[in-house]
Amino acid sequence: MRKFGVIGNPVDHSLSPMIHHEFAKEFDIELSYEKILSPVDAFNLTAEKFMSSGSSGFNITLPFKINAYNFADDLTDEAKAAGAVNTIKIDNNIIFGENTDGKGLVNDLERNLEQTLRDKEILIIGAGGATRGILKPILDKNPEKILLANRTKEKSLRLANEFSEYGKVCGFGIDQIKSKPVNIVINATSSSIDGTMLNLPKGLCEGALCYDLMYGSETPFMKWALKDSALIISDGLGMLVEQAALSFEFWLGKKPSTRPVINLIRERVDL
Ligand code: ATR
Repeated sequence: MRKFGVIGNPVDHSLSPMIHHEFAKEFDIELSYEKILSPVDAFNLTAEKFMSSGSSGFNITLPFKINAYNFADDLTDEAKAAGAVNTIKIDNNIIFGENTDGKGLVNDLERNLEQTLRDKEILIIGAGGATRGILKPILDKNPEKILLANRTKEKSLRLANEFSEYGKVCGFGIDQIKSKPVNIVINATSSSIDGTMLNLPKGLCEGALCYDLMYGSETPFMKWALKDSALIISDGLGMLVEQAALSFEFWLGKKPSTRPVINLIRERVDL
């Protein structure tokens, strides 16, 4: 039996075990997938212990994605650009670090929400770790441009500058967002966690696809987008399942079907 897991703190809420067990059923693969709570100051020790217990792969969630980046011997281009790792695979004693978050979002937008990103104007709100993880995979799809707005303007300017080698990104302050509609609005701030709503201008979401990286049936951002006449509104559950599918493929070389798992979670789990 292959042994996988997710290391985090907290980790109790994680839907990853359920998702990976569903993927495994599709291919008749026997695997275990457990939640591993690590002390915040002992990620390496926790990871090493899990590896010596026979695991050859695991996911990493908050707050350890940067620790995992430093822990890996070798990094994929996505992990390098993100500066963070959410998937580790051990092969021939080499620890490989990958980041599937951004490609997971792109797959959800393209496959499940049937959006094309090419030539689109995309506003991303937030300039923290989540945004860093999604910028390169989105820019690889050749949007017209990414507008990057953040409460602390300096952070969005810095990030825009850093990622401009991959495509057009303009950084500015959240208070400088114009009410002019864009094609896609992505909330990559952590504001939904504490239930606060961002102060955004009216008309921004008119006719747009509005996407919250957080999952949950109705985040404050999603409620606001609905009032602001957004065309399509989505939480980040599809991204969660898509990033898991890419981790599964990284470990086992098989591409699981994601839609049935997204539907199953919506049915079974009170998000
Ligand atoms: P994550 O890894 O989830 O991106 P992070 O790196 O702590 O977390 O970044 C959180 C992001 O959410 C930041 O862009 C933060 O803005 P600041 O850089 O100005 O702190 C943004 N954020 C969090 N709460 C917010 C709020 N209430 N309004 C606006 N932006 C908020």
